[in-house]
Amino acid sequence: MGREVWRGNFCWSAEPERLKVLEQGYLMAQDGVVQGTAKELPDAWKGVPIHDFGDCLVIPGLTDLHMHAPQYEFTGMGMDMELLEWLNRQTFPVEARYAEEAYAERAYTLFTDDLKNSVTTRACIFATIHLPATEILMEKLEATGLKTMVGKVNMDRNSPDFLREADAKASADETLRWVDGCIGRFQNVQPILTPRFIPSCSDDLMRRLKQIQKQYHLPVQSHLSENPGEIEWVQSLCPESEFYGDAYDRFGLFGGEDCPTVMAHCVYSDEKEQQRIRERGVWIAHCPQSNINLSSGIAPVREFLERGLKVGLGSDVAGGSSISMFRAVTDAIQVSKLYWRMKDEDRKPLKLEEAFYLATVGSGSFFGKVGSFEPGYELDAVVLDDRRLNRLGSHTVRERLERICYLSDDREIAEKYVSGKEVLQKQNR
Ligand code: GUN
Ligand code: FE
Repeated sequence: MGREVWRGNFCWSAEPERLKVLEQGYLMAQDGVVQGTAKELPDAWKGVPIHDFGDCLVIPGLTDLHMHAPQYEFTGMGMDMELLEWLNRQTFPVEARYAEEAYAERAYTLFTDDLKNSVTTRACIFATIHLPATEILMEKLEATGLKTMVGKVNMDRNSPDFLREADAKASADETLRWVDGCIGRFQNVQPILTPRFIPSCSDDLMRRLKQIQKQYHLPVQSHLSENPGEIEWVQSLCPESEFYGDAYDRFGLFGGEDCPTVMAHCVYSDEKEQQRIRERGVWIAHCPQSNINLSSGIAPVREFLERGLKVGLGSDVAGGSSISMFRAVTDAIQVSKLYWRMKDEDRKPLKLEEAFYLATVGSGSFFGKVGSFEPGYELDAVVLDDRRLNRLGSHTVRERLERICYLSDDREIAEKYVSGKEVLQKQNR
């Protein structure tokens, strides 16, 4: 890939409260890694071919820290239920259809096409319990050029017969087969261990998953403290655990050394649970739209940030109905305003800068140095042609970014890069 120089309007975060803006400036990269940004091109970079993005806005790629690929086909449906009813009536029957490969093939084509055309450059994705369908999803994601972590879901209890693995051993064996099959097969897709949530995984299964996690050094993703009924259920299933997160931690599947873990939601994580999250370095995937749709509540994100927890944003499709990470940004801002006004006036609302930081650096950090244009970061970028939203040509870059977050759709996405490689280029530009 070598050395390259980009020219355009750049906008990125280095820290939560400050947006860096570079108007008509230069970004220097080597082998897909940012080397620096400057208003004038440094002498050392003169002569390197310049890729000029004109008046477009160039921002870091956004990472969706939590989503369910098989649920994409029912976005915007079943939205009048709470979590447990929604799982049983809407979600599980649809996920069961992925037992059939031809079905998975069709549905995952739609999902991966739309993800490729979105502003998302990286994502942590749940598949289903089905190994062949999960492999189909991984193959399709590999072809998009996006970098993703994908999990074959584990479920061996409290699930309907049509969506449950026979027992802990069968679930673990199938997971091993899947992980073994992934070795050396993909460049852009990595396996991530995915016990669905405590209610659907027996103690025996959790112990077996820990063995697999250790053996293959796998990351972990799951759900945590999303809904009051769910939390009560976990308490009755695991009376010995101090709190929901402890039920994962007892099995060593809650962060810590060599076990990067992302937990979605944390709407009801109290001080004790947040303390454990901090000690174990667990990432929180804040999924505001899902938390609205399933009447789950509002996660105390300001508290997370004040405590120095690692937080990113997720769409949680199809609890969330939109695949757009810009939508996640504005939803995070909007629910934080309600939280502040209705629940706790000491927790001030998120500003655009902060929510943008969460969707870029916050989520991206699960993948390493990802989500910024600071030196050393992988060059993931979205190029936005926002002429439709800036018709008078009168807006500052900061204003244009805000407007893009609230108003843009696929029409504004002109190009997309992951680790310096072009993954999307619109024809009609
Ligand atoms: N908890 C367990 N499974 C799910 C799921 O599919 N979506 C959400 N939002 N929460 C869950
Ligand atoms: Fe989820």
